[in-house]
Amino acid sequence: MNGPTTNGAPGARRFPDGFLWGAGTSAYQIEGAVNEDGRGRSIWDVFSHTPGTVRTGETGDIACDSYHRLGDDVACLAELGVGAYRFSIAWSRVLPSGRGPVNQAGLDYYRALVDELRAHGIVPVATVYHWDLPQALEDEGGWASRDTAELLAQYAAVLADALGDRVGMWTTVNEPQQTVHQGYRLGTHAPGHRDLRLAAAAAHHILLGHGLALQALRAALPARVPVGIALDPHPYRAVGEDAKLVATQLDADQNRICVDPVLHGTYPAHANPELLPPDALIHEGDLTAISAPVDFIGVNYYRPHYVRSGDWSNLRLGETPVPDHPGFVEYLPPERPQTVMGWLVEPDGLYEILTRLHRESRGLPLYITENGCAAEDYVNPDGDINDVERVDYIHGHLDAVLRALADGVDVAGYFHWSLLDNFEWAWGYRRRFGLYYVDYGTQRRLPKRSAAFYAGIVRSGELPALDPVVPELPLAPVAES
Ligand code: FCB
Repeated sequence: MNGPTTNGAPGARRFPDGFLWGAGTSAYQIEGAVNEDGRGRSIWDVFSHTPGTVRTGETGDIACDSYHRLGDDVACLAELGVGAYRFSIAWSRVLPSGRGPVNQAGLDYYRALVDELRAHGIVPVATVYHWDLPQALEDEGGWASRDTAELLAQYAAVLADALGDRVGMWTTVNEPQQTVHQGYRLGTHAPGHRDLRLAAAAAHHILLGHGLALQALRAALPARVPVGIALDPHPYRAVGEDAKLVATQLDADQNRICVDPVLHGTYPAHANPELLPPDALIHEGDLTAISAPVDFIGVNYYRPHYVRSGDWSNLRLGETPVPDHPGFVEYLPPERPQTVMGWLVEPDGLYEILTRLHRESRGLPLYITENGCAAEDYVNPDGDINDVERVDYIHGHLDAVLRALADGVDVAGYFHWSLLDNFEWAWGYRRRFGLYYVDYGTQRRLPKRSAAFYAGIVRSGELPALDPVVPELPLAPVAES
């Protein structure tokens, strides 16, 4: 890359000046304090308390206790040296039943968080909706109801009024596709439906929610404050000529179904008709609202998917049938590394998604709003957490970002997922994604080796060469509050 010169480390490559470094979390995954200060119940409270939904029956009732420890979390961010923090706001803390009177105590928590971030020179990046719908709205039909989209916009307006002068960037909705797919098709996430008709309606209404929330934020915020959406497109790779059509179909069903309406104002014609919202639900003007210009696209990237032909009656290790496509399987090529989630590690997938979105959005700024991996982290007898897999993952994916930048893609920032180990949805606390290890017994946050590695990159603005040179852990644990 013909970028600016480096500070002299041999082979290090430099990120552009102004590249925004950050880390992210979401409300239900870290806050806990589910019954405090007037917070209403969300669909994740109800879902996680339903037997058989979350591994080992865990819930977000306490999580990382961030509601009481925001100072600790901000101290971690300051130690990393990042310029920005991506967090989400719990709708039911601010509007306990999803609409109506504002719960001032709930808003005060976010005000305090935002002030603490600002005091440390860290830009607050707020997500309006990261999956925790107020249960009261689910009881009225949830995302299958059009009203929910309008209520999201009203809630966004409340946030813009209360926090608009302090939050530096907004994303409306996090990964609408996962809400639809896991929440309404598979039932593996809240609200746990398995109903294609509801899913098709939810797809349209959550995207409409994005469009209406975008309008509401724009109406209330100063023009300089960027607003975007976080999408999670992932490559579908066909192995063998015969799998190409299936891969294209999966791309339409899982990626284009959200990307196309937002970027082009259309639903993909070749997506499975059962997944597409019926025309009757799409009112005049909806697609114009959904495709109104955003200031940036947030990209959440973790892994690619591989498909090939396979025998459903004699599946091999790592193969799963592709629903509706008899004779085809998704599989994990054994020669490729995977994480403890069973997710393939493939930085080229990030490069591919960045270049594709660059092309399709005609050069909009892209922020990687999530990227990271779970690993079997543990504190060793010396007190260190030696998460070399995560160091390698970060190195590989930032290398992909540098390649995309070199090819002219406007990648404006990177937010590592996650700042902290947290409640990983249906996996509960069994999956650790953090740069900081959370000892759930004491709630102490301990920097992993990856935290030191990432802090080095953030501070120097450079990716070290080849095998990452990992410094000895220079970061001290954040004291208990
Ligand atoms: C993403 C979610 C995020 C986190 C990561 C691992 O899909 O947006 O909350 O759970 O996966």
